Amino acid sequence: SAEPSAQLVAELVAVARQVAVAAGRLVHDGRPETVGVAATKSSAVDVVTAMDLASEELVRAELARLRPADGILGEEGGHVPGTSGVTWVVDPIDGTVNYLYGLPAYAVSVAAVVGEPAPGAWTVLAGCVHAPATGETWTAGRGQGAHLDGRPLTVAPAPPLDRCLLGTGFGYVAERRRAQARVLADLLPRVRDVRRAGAAAIDLCQVATGRLDLYYERGLQPWDLAAAGLVVAEAGGVVTGLRGRAAGPDMVVAGAAERVAELVALLEELHADAPDSPSRE
Ligand code: IPD
Repeated sequence: SAEPSAQLVAELVAVARQVAVAAGRLVHDGRPETVGVAATKSSAVDVVTAMDLASEELVRAELARLRPADGILGEEGGHVPGTSGVTWVVDPIDGTVNYLYGLPAYAVSVAAVVGEPAPGAWTVLAGCVHAPATGETWTAGRGQGAHLDGRPLTVAPAPPLDRCLLGTGFGYVAERRRAQARVLADLLPRVRDVRRAGAAAIDLCQVATGRLDLYYERGLQPWDLAAAGLVVAEAGGVVTGLRGRAAGPDMVVAGAAERVAELVALLEELHADAPDSPSRE
């Protein structure tokens, strides 16, 4: 299929930003101060789930108004196909545990893709990651660069691995976490330090912004990756998977090209993408 016009890409970036900022305002203003200290965590979790749903509902309503022929794939509401060929991939709150505890690293992520809305199969045309608690907004348009609050971003050449600040994240299931901890135990002595900030979309944007040198994570969902992956790529960074595959649920590795290649080789050696198996220890 032909390359989309620059005008379409610019329009999609503007829509992504408008919608992500509106949902961010709802999420940020609607967070009860007490949510993280509620006596029973289960009721606090319900508040977060309700806000996840409300945020995605707002995004779906705004997109239906602004781009009625487009499809939507959202974390909460699943895939509703459209007729235009464009699909919006939406995370209504990335970093829900941070949101629950009142930590600022949470974001709304909105991306426009063409092709099947799945990592590796899609072409991402536009994306916005908006973190309402810090007020930061990352945007990217295919062929049009990446920006933080309007300032153009360029991924700097990474330092040697032993001076790299490495971001990562963990899944929520115990067996997966046990395997992830084993990989991390091997990586930790080889890098400057590790950060687990708790929001994959923000982590990826931090790579584009020079606040992390490298990032890797297994088990990301399409909506964690769509917008922020384009931010990294348009900033001149690399976003890839292991064993020659595209970035996807098995693994996402992001950073400057040379250091990504080194980390990919290490993660392959450590079988960081091996199927989870019950521990024998
Ligand atoms: C999660 C966060 C977390 C990452 C998990 C994601 P959610 O997204 O991005 O940092 O480690 O893999 O699932 O559940 O808060 O939208």
